[in-house]
Amino acid sequence: MASSTPLLLQTLIISITLLQFQTSNQQQPLLLLPLKQQTQQPSSNSRKLSFQHNVTLTVTLTVGTPPQNVTMVLDTGSELSWLHCNPVNNNTFNFFNSSLSSSYVPTPCSSSICKIRTQDLPIPVSCDSTTSKLCHVIVSYADSTSTEGTLTADTFSIGATPQPNTLFGCMESGYTTNPNEDSKSTGLLGMNQGSLSFVTQLGLPKFSYCISVGEGSSGILLFGATTAFPWLGPLQYTPLVKTTTSLPYFDRVAYTVQLEGIKVSDKLLQLPKSIFVPDHTGAGQTMVDSGTQFTFLLGSVYTALKNEFLNQTKGKSMLKVVEDPNFVFQGAMDLCYSVVGGGGGVAAEVPAVTMVFSGAEMRVSGERLLYKVNESMYCFTFGNSDMLGIEAYVIGHHHQQNVWMEFDLVNARVGFADTKCDLASQRLSPAS
Ligand SMILES: *[C@@H]1O[C@H](CO)[C@@H](O)[C@H](O)[C@H]1NC(C)=O
Ligand SMILES: *[C@@H]1O[C@H](CO)[C@@H](O)[C@H](O)[C@H]1NC(C)=O
Ligand SMILES: *[C@@H]1O[C@H](CO)[C@@H](O)[C@H](O)[C@H]1NC(C)=O
Ligand SMILES: *[C@@H]1O[C@H](CO)[C@@H](O)[C@H](O)[C@H]1NC(C)=O
Ligand SMILES: *[C@@H]1O[C@H](CO)[C@@H](O)[C@H](O)[C@H]1NC(C)=O
Ligand SMILES: *[C@@H]1O[C@H](CO)[C@@H](O)[C@H](O)[C@H]1NC(C)=O
Repeated sequence: MASSTPLLLQTLIISITLLQFQTSNQQQPLLLLPLKQQTQQPSSNSRKLSFQHNVTLTVTLTVGTPPQNVTMVLDTGSELSWLHCNPVNNNTFNFFNSSLSSSYVPTPCSSSICKIRTQDLPIPVSCDSTTSKLCHVIVSYADSTSTEGTLTADTFSIGATPQPNTLFGCMESGYTTNPNEDSKSTGLLGMNQGSLSFVTQLGLPKFSYCISVGEGSSGILLFGATTAFPWLGPLQYTPLVKTTTSLPYFDRVAYTVQLEGIKVSDKLLQLPKSIFVPDHTGAGQTMVDSGTQFTFLLGSVYTALKNEFLNQTKGKSMLKVVEDPNFVFQGAMDLCYSVVGGGGGVAAEVPAVTMVFSGAEMRVSGERLLYKVNESMYCFTFGNSDMLGIEAYVIGHHHQQNVWMEFDLVNARVGFADTKCDLASQRLSPAS
């Protein structure tokens, strides 16, 4: 989702304050970031809500010397981190002022970093002749807006640990279409497996996060070597899928896992396994993406899931399907229910949906399955990739709420376990 991620973001602001501590049984320090959520009103009243961004996951850290505070959207679906830099107008509330940083170093086109390390970027770099031959980067989004600037190195500090010469895009033009989002975050922290991502640059063996449910609640992001906590049950692991060949629709640096099937309650949808395997163009990969809110499935799978879900909820008097073909939540979610009497308990009425991965299952139930659009309407939280023009299955962060998510890069696998993320972050915070 490298090119389309920010569009699917909604404003869930997770302010991350860094804490650092050492566990008794290991050398490598863990870096912990408490996450706080905040929601915002969407900026448009359009009935067909294409790409409203209500929720984003953000972390707060410092960049530069002396340090400047920045708030960045956590995105496992992107490679290059970027910050709004030195805006020429007043539209940007949060930005990084590079002229105030003594450690700021723009990258020349002639450097090997510009020539070689940018190879996985979706849009190739160019040489900016107007800025004395600096390495020019462009990040684009699915709604065809983009932001561009200069590949730059500066010190990123996570807690007390400075990371000198961290590469990012210092973006001086182009903004997202959502002013709310621009006002709340300074930029984006690219966490995929590409050579320039934050994770790769830090050489992290593993990172984890746990997203809490609801406004104002807290979650956690953890950079470190272990997640073997006694209170956390065993994780289920699914291997990361690697491919060496370059295919047009396959994002080789995404966190790709293998989806094998989908169950509604205990009933496995009757679909050929091959439908979940990327084809010769690379279409049909399954990505775990913290930068996308909901989960999207290729059309034929989405339709099978929707039909089975409808079949199993047919008799529920509380759930009345919205029959208006013009109402499609966020442009891709066309199964919505109008609920009678405020909707209390409506989530308990629906069967669980389980995503079956190679070696692991992720069960989605209750409130994670029906999203409250307003007092009288709930929508199913799986959407149709075809309606967004996406050639992939994307597991969004809504379904990762109250799930401990571990990205184990050393062993090339993703692990997860259901847990209460607000309790997890309390447990991991220092005695307070
Ligand atoms: C940066 O954040 C820290 C910690 O929240 C705060 O104490 C400090 O005042 C902030 N600095 C600026 C310039 O906002
Ligand atoms: C950045 O800081 C410099 C030096 O203090 C200042 O002159 C400039 O106006 C600042 N830039 C912005 C966009 O605020
Ligand atoms: C930007 O904001 C400042 C303070 O609010 C104001 O004085 C200035 O005129 C604004 N500049 C532009 C270009 O709007
Ligand atoms: C709905 O479910 C019932 C019971 O599992 C099954 O017999 C029926 O064929 C299903 N209908 C559709 C349209 O899938
Ligand atoms: C966005 O958040 C607001 C405030 O919580 C909520 O009322 C609205 O329904 C949300 N919109 C979407 C598109 O999720
Ligand atoms: C909920 O949202 C739907 C679709 O936008 C709208 O038709 C309905 O009037 C809304 N209901 C309330 C109570 O706001």
